[in-house]
This record gives sequence, structure tokens and C-alpha cells, in this order.
Amino acid sequence: MSPAAIISIVIVALVALAAVVLLTAARRADVRGAGALSRETTRRDKDSEIDRPMPLTGRQVEAEASQARHGGLATTVAAPPQIWVKPDADVVGFNRRQFLNRATVTLMTAGLGAFAAAAFTAFLWPFKVSGFGGKVAAGKLDDIVAGIRSGRGFLYNSTARSWLTAYPSDALPKAKGVHTYAPVLAGMEAGLVALYQKCPHLGCRVPSCESSQWFECPCHGSQYNRVGEKKGGPAPRGMDRFAISVSATGDVTIDTATVFEGPPIGTNTTGQEAEGPHCVSGGHH
Ligand code: FES
Repeated sequence: MSPAAIISIVIVALVALAAVVLLTAARRADVRGAGALSRETTRRDKDSEIDRPMPLTGRQVEAEASQARHGGLATTVAAPPQIWVKPDADVVGFNRRQFLNRATVTLMTAGLGAFAAAAFTAFLWPFKVSGFGGKVAAGKLDDIVAGIRSGRGFLYNSTARSWLTAYPSDALPKAKGVHTYAPVLAGMEAGLVALYQKCPHLGCRVPSCESSQWFECPCHGSQYNRVGEKKGGPAPRGMDRFAISVSATGDVTIDTATVFEGPPIGTNTTGQEAEGPHCVSGGHH
């Protein structure tokens, strides 16, 4: 079981436990409150005159005498008015407490449940990152090859922040001997490399140099051949790169989730020398 699944199960168990504890506490409060009348309430009940018979009025006495004389039905005597008794504050308070207890428990349970659901979703349903930092759809392989050709050897993909260039198939045997190329070899076998635009020296954006057919960094003069192998300058290695995959339908994806380090200094699988004047001079070290 994955750590994310374990964490999710623990969160759900904790939420369930918290809900049980809260419900139990609320129930206990309810039970304790029910039937426990305060002393004040009991005293009032005793003093209440609701059930005490009322003394007869003079009119009632006369009515009863008349009924006795005539043997007829007594005149209906209106019931004595009931004495209004102030509602018991304890009973009112108890109902309010009960309501608040239940509302609190319900709200807390709902809140914890929502939190657990969010955590569960976040752990078990990883967000799909698109754009830089995730998988970038770069188009059809044929279109990319055509784009590189029309870009005089270089095609820039702004979403992947990468340069796409062609990798010659006759250089593949040498490439297989370079350990840093292993994670990106599939793309090279498909005839492509995706080079991260960030210079491995101090991070400047490295532009292509059309005349030399290399990459030449304007910041401190590091130079790389067209497949990003270091040719000169202070950079500690060749240009970093991304893995490329090509689907059965010819769709190319650049996976920018992982930056793979460029090849070590001295790597030269293509043997490509500068094909014209440099764009940046003095970078040779
Ligand atoms: S940042 Fe490119 S050479 Fe220094």
C-alpha cells in the first residue's frame, strides 16, 4: 500500500473517531440534562396554585343554592381564570443548550468530513500538471522535423522552454555509451533532442547561433554544439535536457517534469564543429 493511501486511511479513521467522541459527549449532556430539574423548578412546582381549588364567589354560592331549591340544572359557571406561570428558565435553557450542542457537533463533523475528503482527493488523485513542469504536447513528429529545418537547425518550444534539434541517427552508437543520455535516449532514437534553455553555468537563457550552428551563451561565452554537448566556456557540462516520447500516431511529448543533466565535458557524439562565425567570442576555455 502506498504512503498516500496509508495517510488517507489514518485521516479518515481520525475523523470518524472524532465524530464518535463528539456525538458521545453530546449524548451524555442530553441524558444528564433530561429529567434533572433544578431546585428552583421543584420549589415553583410546589408553590404553584394551578391545581389548588379556588374559593367560591358569592355569585357561585347563590347559583348553587338556587339549583338546590329548584332541583334543576345549575347555571354554567365560568371556569376560574388560570394563573399565568412564568416559563421555567431551566427548561428553556436546556432546550437552547441541546440545540447548540447538536449544531456544534453537526458543524464539526461536517467540517472534518470535508477536510478528510479534500485530503483524500489530494493524496489519491494527483494533479495533472500541464505546461512547463509537466508533459508538454509538442505536435506531430513530421511537423517538428519540418520546423527544425525551416528554423535553420533550431526550433524553439516556449511552453517546454526548450530548444528542439535533430539528433543524427549515425551518432546513436556513441550516444548509447554516454551514461547521462540513458533517460533521454528514446527521443534521440526518434531523431530529436529537447535542450533546456537554461545555461548550466549560471542560468542565462542560451540562444542558438545560426552562423556557427551551435548554442552560444551571451553571459559568459559558454558554447555547445547543436545537440547541446559542451564545446567551450565556463559551463560545467553540456546543456540539460528533457525526455521525449513519440506515440504510435506520431505525437511528440516533452516531459519537463524532470530535468536531466547534460553530458559531461568532453562528450562529443556528433563531431559537429562550428559551421561559421561564432555569435559570442572569447568564450573558449
Ligand atoms: S550563464 Fe551561460 S556561460 Fe554563464
